[in-house]
Amino acid sequence: MSITFHEKEQIFKLDTKNTTYAIGIVDEDKFLGHIYYGARLDDYRIGYLMRISENPFVPSENNRDRVSFLDSFAMEYPTHGLGDYRESCISIRTLNGNMGLSLSYVSHKITEGKTSFEGLPSSFGSREECSVLEILCEDKVTGLQAVLQYGVFDDVDVITRSVKVMNNGQEAVYLTKVYSACLDMDNQDFEAVSLHGSWARERQIQSVPVSHGKYSVESIRGESSHQDHPFMALKTKNGTQETGEVYAMHFVYSGNFKVQVQSDQFDQVRMVMGIHPEGFTWKLEKGEAFQAPEVVMVYSGEGLGKMSRTFHDFYRKHLIRSEYKDKKRPVLINNWEATYFEFDTEKLIAIAREASQLGIEMLVMDDGWFGSRCDDNRALGDWYVNEDKLKGGLKYLVDEVNKLGMKFGIWFEPEMISPDSDLYRSHPDWAIAIPGRKASLCRNQYVLDLTRKEVRDYAYECVAKILRSANIEYVKWDMNRQLSDLGSLELPADRMGELYHRYVLAVYEMQERLIQEFPHLLLENCSGGGARFDPGMLYYSPQIWCSDDTDAIERLKIQEGTALIYPLSAMGAHVSDCPNHTVGRVTPFETRGYVALAGTFGYELDVTKIPEEDRNMIPEQVAMYHKYNDLVREGDYYRIASYAENHYFDCYGVVSKDKKEALYTFVQVLNRPNCHSRRIKLQGLAPEKTYRIEGEDNTYTGELLMKAGINIQNPWGDFKGQLIHLVEE
Ligand code: DGJ
Repeated sequence: MSITFHEKEQIFKLDTKNTTYAIGIVDEDKFLGHIYYGARLDDYRIGYLMRISENPFVPSENNRDRVSFLDSFAMEYPTHGLGDYRESCISIRTLNGNMGLSLSYVSHKITEGKTSFEGLPSSFGSREECSVLEILCEDKVTGLQAVLQYGVFDDVDVITRSVKVMNNGQEAVYLTKVYSACLDMDNQDFEAVSLHGSWARERQIQSVPVSHGKYSVESIRGESSHQDHPFMALKTKNGTQETGEVYAMHFVYSGNFKVQVQSDQFDQVRMVMGIHPEGFTWKLEKGEAFQAPEVVMVYSGEGLGKMSRTFHDFYRKHLIRSEYKDKKRPVLINNWEATYFEFDTEKLIAIAREASQLGIEMLVMDDGWFGSRCDDNRALGDWYVNEDKLKGGLKYLVDEVNKLGMKFGIWFEPEMISPDSDLYRSHPDWAIAIPGRKASLCRNQYVLDLTRKEVRDYAYECVAKILRSANIEYVKWDMNRQLSDLGSLELPADRMGELYHRYVLAVYEMQERLIQEFPHLLLENCSGGGARFDPGMLYYSPQIWCSDDTDAIERLKIQEGTALIYPLSAMGAHVSDCPNHTVGRVTPFETRGYVALAGTFGYELDVTKIPEEDRNMIPEQVAMYHKYNDLVREGDYYRIASYAENHYFDCYGVVSKDKKEALYTFVQVLNRPNCHSRRIKLQGLAPEKTYRIEGEDNTYTGELLMKAGINIQNPWGDFKGQLIHLVEE
């Protein structure tokens, strides 16, 4: 049993293999206080950490200073309006306009095993793997109830958090903010680590000191976004990949979010995470409930590296569902950078023919195969095959590709509508827009109001009909603009604040339908590159396109940031042509292959046109993928050197769970004069084991390789990569 309630002390203790989380109930008001999160404790008598005896401080003994208590007590789920002036987790507005709320403990339930929340992506685990604690709290005045939900994943050291709000009162209530998790702690000279970026530069790691005031990372773009990521880790100052304490939160959600850390007057910190309150109101009728999305919490006492490996294991075991999750993905070739909109059946078959001879296993037809889509100005919504381009139809093309021994995949952007489309001409009202205001275009397109069932059904059927028409085994689901002009013709005025969240729920519903109807489909999510690379989408697709930037050197940084939280098995990564279409850089074909190896692996180029020496390298690269992918997909990830930090070279490794095999990728980005070799200390090996480096006769102990390291000869030239493969002797 990983959750225990100590009746006498009124303490909940939640244990995973290496961590403990503790909550206490205090005072006559039965406030829920956060006591502890950190390294595993055997002793549960930790109530003294709540500081309630220091004054006497609790309202029952010192009610004249109730506000002082509320404003300093480490709250488990703080409410708005009654005297806690720090960031609250929940705020409401009653029909008469009042906003105060106070939640007191009522009862609790402990169960074994966890299922996902209905309609929302969320983690799952068997009775052996996890336990669930639900604490019911109530506000006596409004009758509003909140169930604080905790999933305790013993095997992977993760605690999930969420809250379900129920209106048990007599009249409707508006929820104006519902975060999913809060963590109140003393500041330990924390640094806040987060991921920032833009289109083609997603998930760059940033670390800033936590000082007084509030620091937040957020999106109000209707998706998790290129710009910010629903993640924050607080790490103790100067903590590294291997050292220091880390407290991390990651949001299993794909829409507007906010994660914030606040340092207060007492040097306490409060970290909160949830749906962004801006533009959000949810009307809760009497008897209705609202389920907030899930937060994944990780504590590591061994730096950021351990945190990453914990998230990776958790997502691989308890979030991703696809039948591909533990399988090699077919090596694909995508025609986007190869042809953009200029393609037809003949061209695609020519690419497939050449690709199949080189060992590539799937052709993916990207944007431009439907309606009058000859550029990105038109036709989104017109999901019927353009037979001028695809002579003989889609089935003919798919069959021809299959005859070459290759699978076939296709691109969709089902959430969108172009003003120049048959769909828009017949249903202009299907686009999200504020009545009376011309909606803003982005990539010359609008977003469909998928919160309307008829629109959602139409969009789904378009995709499903195409998939039913031929042997299509992969879908790239793209989304190329962010939401604006939030207005829906169907929602009443007092529910308009629900549109953002309802939109995300609608996307989830469509993707759930898709994977239920086509259970063998390999789904890859994408959003103008990696703007919706989040755990929410991972619940539906085992892989997500990382970025439109396929330059090997830019990818080092993007993939480092992505791998900080996500397993390599989830990262869509391709070898593309040079000069690179985004940055114009020319890198060796070989290095491009090494870098793409860290992800799902594929090609994004016209294989009939690239230089012969590059083409000749493809069979070798495909063989390399087959040789290493099991290790890359399932192993433990170690970040050894960061090009983003040192500006010269990059190095990371993947070590098998049994520590019998390891693969390290080294990329010398910029050469340096008079610097002949570089000492690299490997990580993750078993010190007592003996390893042989492939291609060498000597053997080395893990201890030697980790403590003393290996010498990597400085390659001649820039952008040179190499793989170091170790196998136990
Ligand atoms: C954005 C994606 O990230 C690209 O790979 C490509 O599919 C384009 N959209 C097509 O419009």
